[in-house]
Amino acid sequence: MYLKRISLRNFRNYSSLKISFNKGINIIYGNNAQGKTNLLESIYVLALTNTFRNVNDTNLIMYNKEFFKIDGVLKDSKLDTDLNIYYNNMKKHMVVDSNEINKVSSYISRMNTILFTPDDLDIIKGPPLVRRKFLNTELSQLYSNYYILLSEYDKILKMRNDYIKSGKMDINYYDIITSFLIEKDILIFKIRRKFIERINNFCSKIFKDITGLDGFKIVYKPNLDYSEYNYDKNKILDIFKDKYDSEYKILSTFYGVHKDDFEFYLGDINLKLYGSQGQMRISVLTLKLSEIEIFKKWKETTPILLLDDVFSEIDEIKNNNLLSYLNRDIQVIITAVSLNSFSKEILAKSKVFRIDAGKLKIDRLSKEKIDREV
Ligand SMILES: Nc1ncnc2c1ncn2[C@@H]1O[C@H](COP(=O)(O)OP(=O)(O)O)[C@@H](O)[C@H]1O
Ligand SMILES: [Mg+2]
Repeated sequence: MYLKRISLRNFRNYSSLKISFNKGINIIYGNNAQGKTNLLESIYVLALTNTFRNVNDTNLIMYNKEFFKIDGVLKDSKLDTDLNIYYNNMKKHMVVDSNEINKVSSYISRMNTILFTPDDLDIIKGPPLVRRKFLNTELSQLYSNYYILLSEYDKILKMRNDYIKSGKMDINYYDIITSFLIEKDILIFKIRRKFIERINNFCSKIFKDITGLDGFKIVYKPNLDYSEYNYDKNKILDIFKDKYDSEYKILSTFYGVHKDDFEFYLGDINLKLYGSQGQMRISVLTLKLSEIEIFKKWKETTPILLLDDVFSEIDEIKNNNLLSYLNRDIQVIITAVSLNSFSKEILAKSKVFRIDAGKLKIDRLSKEKIDREV
């Protein structure tokens, strides 16, 4: 799939912007603080309704304005879909082909994006919460059922925790709510395990292509490995029961997928502990590039790849190796401070935009320069 065009109203530092993208590589360049990341953010919000930055929806509205609006035309297997997100009066609206959609779960699996930003280093360096958030965002795009499942899990977990905190102890009720939780636990565990298994089919080759190093893998660290109990709910309930007493001390649920994690390895080396900064960045980039293949296989579509400032952040990267990944049958929207990181061949194939203080500059000069040099 690819994004044909997008138009913004009052989104961050864009009062009004219209851009038509290329099906292949699109390069957005400009100085710092001009709106490059904001533009990628708008595309991300159009796909997922929420931003990847840690802010509220109101922060996305241009200063002193009342609303923001994002319109896009998505093309997928010959079909054009009009997508629209607009926000005013503290309420976000999601519209597909002029029909308002009420549930986030029925909106989000339509437009698939994979985003890589400098902050993604947290996926390896940060706490487990960041990695679970990654799994949840990606799996919700792949599978609208996952989003529903996760909401159900969260609801049951909250009920169970509230019950523990209330100090009541009706064993029958406690067993029942625990069984409900276990049912969802098992389903989420299976989906996450399969996802990581599939990532592993691709990631070691991608990591090697970029860095030349062998043995990269991602290891799922589930809080409980339900497969060890053959998914037998009674056996698993017994495991949970062993912790009932201590749960009344810690006032929360002891086991469950809300405590899952995963790790990155190069051979036996845990990259979070022993990797260089560059290796860590490339690990996360590899994870994201592997997902392209998963989308192809699982959803029979190519997602839109959004790369924010990837070159200035990774100096160890072998640019051309990475670019060979971009130079394929996939839409890439990439931001950069300058065009120096791109080879002439790539520039010749790309649509190049220059952004200056929230305005699009038709960059004739750079276009001519590229034409002359190629
Ligand atoms: N809600 C907003 N309204 C207006 N301007 C904003 C808003 N949020 C951020 N900005 C401005 O956007 C700019 C940063 O844009 P960003 O896309 O992060 O820059 P970069 O080009 O470096 O990626 C800053 O100048 C900031 O003041
Ligand atoms: Mg930026």
